[in-house]
This record gives sequence, C-alpha cells and structure tokens, in this order.
Amino acid sequence: MKRKKTSSKELIQNIIVQIVVYLLLVVAGFAGLLFYTAYRNAESHEVLFNYNIDTEQSNPVFVKIEKGEGWISEDMFGCQYEFVVENNYKYPISKWTLTIPVPEGCYIDSDWEGDWSLEDTVLSVVPFETNEDVEVKSTRKAGLVLYMPEEQDLNGVIIRYRVHIDYPETVMFKILVALFSFGVASLIITILVGAHINRFEREHNSYKTVVNQALRTIANIIDTKDEYARGHSLRVAIYSKMLAEKMGMNEFDQERIYYIGLLHDVGKVGIPNSILTKPGRLTVDEYEIVKRHTQMGAQLMEGFTTIKGAENGIKYHHERYDGTGYNEGLKGEEIPIEGRIIAVADAYDAMSSKRCYRDILSYDYILNELKINAGTQFDPNIVKCMIELIEGGFAPVSAAEMMEFEI
Ligand SMILES: [Fe+2]
Repeated sequence: MKRKKTSSKELIQNIIVQIVVYLLLVVAGFAGLLFYTAYRNAESHEVLFNYNIDTEQSNPVFVKIEKGEGWISEDMFGCQYEFVVENNYKYPISKWTLTIPVPEGCYIDSDWEGDWSLEDTVLSVVPFETNEDVEVKSTRKAGLVLYMPEEQDLNGVIIRYRVHIDYPETVMFKILVALFSFGVASLIITILVGAHINRFEREHNSYKTVVNQALRTIANIIDTKDEYARGHSLRVAIYSKMLAEKMGMNEFDQERIYYIGLLHDVGKVGIPNSILTKPGRLTVDEYEIVKRHTQMGAQLMEGFTTIKGAENGIKYHHERYDGTGYNEGLKGEEIPIEGRIIAVADAYDAMSSKRCYRDILSYDYILNELKINAGTQFDPNIVKCMIELIEGGFAPVSAAEMMEFEI
C-alpha cells in the first residue's frame, strides 16, 4: 500500500557515485595524455633539406645555412658555415643532430657549438648539451670552418630531432584540470549539501511524526464518541490520500488531504453521544444537531491554519455534488476539492464498516451505490478513482494495514 519513495539520501548517494565515475574518467584522461606525450616525445623525426625545392621549407623545423665569404688557401676553398636550426613548431624540439654530405677531400679547420665529425663524405654535428633544445619560435646554431677541394654548395642536409611536449603546458591538460576541479568542487558541494539535507530531513521526519501522531490521537478522541466509528477518521484519511494520489495530486497535497481526513469529523466532539450512538433512526431535530458538526468543526479549527484547506474539508464534506447537501448547499466544483474527496472517502468507509444500526454492506452494493450517486451526491471523477481503488484491492484497508500506514 505504501509506495517506495527514493529518499534524498539515496539520491545524493547516486549523485556522488556519478561524480566519482566522472572523476575517474577525467583521471583516465590524464593518464591517456601522459602516455600520448611520452609516445610523441620518444618519436624520432627526420627531415631532408634540398634547398632548391620550396615545398620542404614548409616543415616547421627548418635548417638554414649561413655561408661566409670564402677564400682560397693552398689550393683549397675555405669557408665559414653556420647551420641555423629554426623551430616554428608548436612544441620545443630536443636532441637535434645534422648530417651534411660534402665532397671528397674536405677537412674541418675549426668548429663551435657542437661536436663536429667528418667521415669520408659525411659531415655531422651533435650540438653541445646546452644547445640541443630549441624552444618554440627560436633558433640554435652550430658552425665550422670547412675546407673543400673546390667551392661547392652544401645540399641534402638531414636534421633528426625529437619533439618535447611538456604535457602540463598542453591545452588538453588545462581542460582536464578544469574538468577535474569542477568534479572535485561538485563532489564537495554535494557532500556538504547532502549532509545538510540529511539533517534537515531527519528533523523534518521527526516533526512529521509528531504531527502525525498528534493528529491521529485527535482522530482517536473523535472516534471514541461512537464505538462503531473506531478507526473511521484514520480510514477516511487513508482513502482520501489514496484518492488524492490517484487524482495526480503532488505528495504535499496528498499529505495535506490525509491530515484533513483525520480531522474531518472533529466537530463531533460537540455532539451528544446519545445522538451519535442512537441505534434507530434519528428524529428531524436530532439530525439537525448532527449536521452542526461540520460548522462546529470549522469553528474549532479556525486557528489551525498550518494545514491549508483544513477548514474546507471539515466544513464541506457533507455537501452534495448536486447542491442538496449541507452546510451551504454548494454545487459541483463550487465545493472545495478537499470536501469532495472526503465526501467520497467518508461515504465509502461508512458503507464498508459496521454501524450501530446496520452491518457492513456488500461489495456489490457499495460499488452500485457509488455508481448511482456519481454526479448527484459525489463528484463523478472522484467516484471513478474510488471504484478503481476498490476494484484494485486497495480498499477497504485492514486493521493491520491501518497500523502499518505511514505518511
Ligand atoms: Fe462527517
């Protein structure tokens, strides 16, 4: 009978689990970035420069040859060369080396900024350690004075290098840090807010229990006026809440209708027991006295304003849909919704309970009574909901279900 609700604690736990999964994914992103940069940094690049082919100059890492004025000495052509490595790539490069084909018979006279070597016709240089890293948009040089048998342009220079991606400097790393910070902040906020909500919910539930127990006690006091009415107010409250739920009202309104149901007959405390428990038919005067319980109840509850609509349910639960009820002879939807719901719940409980003047009425009789009075005594839409509850086995409620019922 009691629907399982997702508590805010479960909701917060679900959110925390989702944030933790999100953070794990971000951490996996960091690991992926780390592996990617390590892989890229280990990769060796090689570029050949034939200076007469323009397309090769589009490579972001470029080698320029700065050639000095040459001279002839002892039948050899001597010249100063500086090899300038330009880095226009988006990351620094490191561990660059050059190899340069030269004619036979060359020799190195002097050199700088690197370890130069000449083996047969291959000149190569490994830059000094301080010179091997080239930052973005910067250059490094290494030079030598080379003698060759006759003047000849140097061509076919090969540069080998590695890129150096410093992963904390990458855009992806900054995005991941932002995502991670967002996740951690969300987690902290969720935990803090969750702790507050849990405390608030505990306090709220504690107050709700106090209110529920207090109003159920009042309902018991009302029902002791008539031993045949024992449990009547609680059952009317339960049916009213079920109807409100079936009609699509929100949880707050369902709770409100339940409390009003508990109090709907509060005015009976002012009606003599001799009339309420009279086994036979009431006289016209006695009936007029009984009718006063709605007005008296409304007056008693005048100061009880915390339950919105309480007065409506108490004062108008004996109005009839066709306008022939009391207190005011309201008709149709002029009768407040609280009054119309309680009227159906009240009549159903009266028919499905034993009274001092009759036994419990049969299932078929009750269904028939509800159907034939839909639109005259009762709101037809609410009757439809009540019939669905009866046919669905939700009504009547047993004594055990009443004991277990929690709002
Ligand atoms: Fe009543």
